[in-house]
Amino acid sequence: MKITPRVFSGMQPTGSLHLGNYLGAMINWIEMQKTHECIYCVVDLHAITVWQDPAELRTAIRQVTAAYIAAGLDPKKSILFNQSQVPAHAELGWIFNCVARLGWLNRMTQFKEKAGKDREQASVGLYAYPNLMAADILAYRATHVPVGEDQKQHLELARDIAQKFNNDFKKEIVAQGFEDGIFFPQPDPVITGPATRVMSLRDGTKKMSKSDPSDFSRISLMDDTDTIADKIKRAKTDAEPLPVTLEDLSKRPEIDNLIGIYAALSGETREQAFTMLLATSGEGPSLFTGFKRNLTDAAVTKLGPIRSEIVRLMADPAEIDAVLANGAARARAIAQPVMDNVKDIVGLIRS
Ligand code: AMP
Ligand code: TRP
Repeated sequence: MKITPRVFSGMQPTGSLHLGNYLGAMINWIEMQKTHECIYCVVDLHAITVWQDPAELRTAIRQVTAAYIAAGLDPKKSILFNQSQVPAHAELGWIFNCVARLGWLNRMTQFKEKAGKDREQASVGLYAYPNLMAADILAYRATHVPVGEDQKQHLELARDIAQKFNNDFKKEIVAQGFEDGIFFPQPDPVITGPATRVMSLRDGTKKMSKSDPSDFSRISLMDDTDTIADKIKRAKTDAEPLPVTLEDLSKRPEIDNLIGIYAALSGETREQAFTMLLATSGEGPSLFTGFKRNLTDAAVTKLGPIRSEIVRLMADPAEIDAVLANGAARARAIAQPVMDNVKDIVGLIRS
């Protein structure tokens, strides 16, 4: 059977989205709507791999959905839904638990980071998380997955799972009418743009993340103008003289990060952002003041309207729930026949 190009991606409803989510992934999601059939998921089953307060989880699912729409995802065109409303994710996730090998999962760096020192206390779900992510993508036989740099290893695992499934069940796949023996495609990561890895504003060697204890490390899509200005003003730079070339930035992670953020927000290249930095540089302690002012303007121009739209949408939770229900019905219509095929291929009996 011919595999048609299809985009799938998702974000976890754990707190508000931040600039890293927006610039690393969502900007590309919006762009891909123009050229592809797109499915964008709020991955609530992934969120509960670590403890979530139920009331906060409900709010976060709606808020991430509102952020998707506010940022420019069109629920009429693309499919927007939350993962737990489509049973295929959990079903295929289980089958992939039986395909993936312990040795593969033991290599996952995100598990090691998230589980920390007390690994015995991590949930089994956190460990199996990458298998569920592979199921998210492959339940739709998706071919393109726009994500930030940190998801690369998980995508490689999804490719390995697709390949092992195709190999293990080759005979049956052919017998079920897939003549070339390929049931699952190898999904390609789409990791592109000037800010595929947005770093913390307090430490240029750590990625911007929802879980950083310092709120000054990240810009949230819910931050107001004053907060954005304050966070950028306090963003760490260094005490070195002005860099001369863009290459000098390889040893200046904080400034490099701000250049990438400015480029992504303004739609300019890193070279153009660097030229602006040189043109606006001040003396001594105000070396980066002009650059930071422009960066603040770019951030407020881009994020201000998104924030007010999120607030507007959140005033009507029933409307958001209706978008999710509609998206889930459309998602089920694609995933259900894939699951039927999978069950037949594996040898399970269905009615
Ligand atoms: P998460 O918040 O972990 O659900 O991530 C959702 C998406 O945002 C994924 O595609 C991540 O790769 C991306 N992402 C998260 N943090 C960053 C970051 N600091 N820089 C770039 N992309 C990021
Ligand atoms: N693991 C991703 C993250 O933490 C979120 C995610 C879950 C995802 N399922 C996915 C991303 C499927 C892309 C495709 O960022």
